[in-house]
Amino acid sequence: MKEDILVLGIESSCDETAAAVVKNGREVLSNVISSQIELHTLYGGVVPEIASRKHIEKINQVTEAALAEANCTMDDIDAIAVTYGPGLVGALLVGVSFAKSLAFALDKPLVGVNHIEGHIAANYIEAKELEPPFVCLIVSGGHTHLAVVEDYGKYKILGCTRDDAAGEAYDKVARAIGLGYPGGPKIDALAKEGDPEAIAFPRAKVGENGYDFSFSGLKSAVLNYLNSCEMKNEEVDRANVAASFQKAVVDVLVEHALTGVEQYGLHKFAIAGGVASNSALRKAFEEECAKRNIDFYRPSPILCTDNAAMIASAGYYDYIAGHRSGWDLNAIPNLKLGDGK
Ligand code: KG4
Ligand code: ZN
Repeated sequence: MKEDILVLGIESSCDETAAAVVKNGREVLSNVISSQIELHTLYGGVVPEIASRKHIEKINQVTEAALAEANCTMDDIDAIAVTYGPGLVGALLVGVSFAKSLAFALDKPLVGVNHIEGHIAANYIEAKELEPPFVCLIVSGGHTHLAVVEDYGKYKILGCTRDDAAGEAYDKVARAIGLGYPGGPKIDALAKEGDPEAIAFPRAKVGENGYDFSFSGLKSAVLNYLNSCEMKNEEVDRANVAASFQKAVVDVLVEHALTGVEQYGLHKFAIAGGVASNSALRKAFEEECAKRNIDFYRPSPILCTDNAAMIASAGYYDYIAGHRSGWDLNAIPNLKLGDGK
């Protein structure tokens, strides 16, 4: 067997068409991302049908670019890893069909990857020393999970959101204060000009385990605040709203996550997903982890939001564990963390 294993990763679960080549699960040889954000901004959010069509247009180009940048051909690729869920069904189907055709035509092993596991694996790319077990907080547009990564591909879910995902709350609040899509980065930037203590928004406590999250109450509190200002003819300080909302989200995420790390007697903690690129969240975790003597891992922002390098990395660990997908691999829009193993 040759020493190095090259995995081609393919990602099309939402509004990014991406392909990447990763060596031995940790070394990125290429990471090509074609974002559709500008297109969807026109509509204030992702339009699934448009996303699928755009993926079809781009997937070939993006894959060719990833191979060229990695200075290799399909002959050098040992396995093809593709996101098969969760995500938008039409969008996922483009990547899955493409990867299946490629694998079938070239007789390469096919590995279906869970997108959430991909986000977690993004941490392995830059932190070469990071190995399970550790606790990971996954915060993206569709997911908010707190999990113990017991081993590669083995997870114990401590908590998840009961309603909106953290990124969804960012996007909805951004829309309410007129910032448009995608809300996360815009709130992140505007919040820097505001006072996080200006407005007392609620921090939700849900369930007995203390690990679940709820963001819909916070979102309603922001909407109520905006309505009451309008009724009273008071001008809204959008920077203060952004900063106070963000502080409420960050406080809850930090509190729940680090309680989990300590209760499980672990000293390693990682964040993942689009919201993990948030500057206030990163800073708060940096400070709190330093105080509590916890090693803190966070991927660079480009590896937090959707990309295919993270899919290739997760796919590598699935591949060396012997997981293979058949030609019946299908898109599973509501795939859960840890499903399918
Ligand atoms: O992981 P991701 O790219 O896609 C999903 O798997 O959902 O996450 C996208 C989400 C969006 O809700 C976006 O608003 C949010 O991540 N996001 C951020 C930031 N950058 C992206 N949220 C807060 N601050 C950011 N800087
Ligand atoms: Zn994602």
